[in-house]
Amino acid sequence: GCPVYLTRHGESLGNQTKSMGGDGNLSETGDRYAGVLADFVAAQLGAGQSRLLVWCSPMKRATQTARAVKCHRYSQWQALTELDTGVFNGCSYKQVERDYPDEFTAREVDKLCYRYPEGEGYLDVVNRLDPVVVALEKEDRPVIVVSHQAVLRCLYAYFHDISLREMPRIPISLHTVVKLTPVDYHPEASAAGAAA
Ligand code: F6P
Repeated sequence: GCPVYLTRHGESLGNQTKSMGGDGNLSETGDRYAGVLADFVAAQLGAGQSRLLVWCSPMKRATQTARAVKCHRYSQWQALTELDTGVFNGCSYKQVERDYPDEFTAREVDKLCYRYPEGEGYLDVVNRLDPVVVALEKEDRPVIVVSHQAVLRCLYAYFHDISLREMPRIPISLHTVVKLTPVDYHPEASAAGAAA
């Protein structure tokens, strides 16, 4: 299969203040990452870059990260937007811990099933990513997905067979690219192999 690259957006102002959600711009450091990423992708793909598809979250920090990557086609997917933190949008983790300790604890206890009031939980994100996964598995061009921490945990867990329980705590660093090389699935060949 064609390689699939996953990356979070570059560091945002929200990352600096450890706040959740929001639609902030990149920090200066994050902006530098956008340039590094474009060079990295060019070095990885060489002439193959003319076939590259960029699939990007519509949030500013993601589009600003992807903008310098040269490609065949750039598209925004609403499904790649970050987990919606609902009423806590823009709050810091510390504020939630201090002012809404029950919500904070409920999430600590069951991060997979917790859903933010008026927002989403990890299971909601898993569901909305379904069409993205189906499209990725069918794609015969290289793809780079530029998205967010929670979304990339879901995709990473799916492609690495990590359980849903463990998924919400997978470390997904900023300024890092994960390369997936999907294995081609040949049901007939493997059936023949099993019979031999
Ligand atoms: O901190 C960055 C961020 O993308 C937030 O916008 C989002 O709420 C959070 O990560 C998701 O990670 P976690 O589920 O660990 O809070």
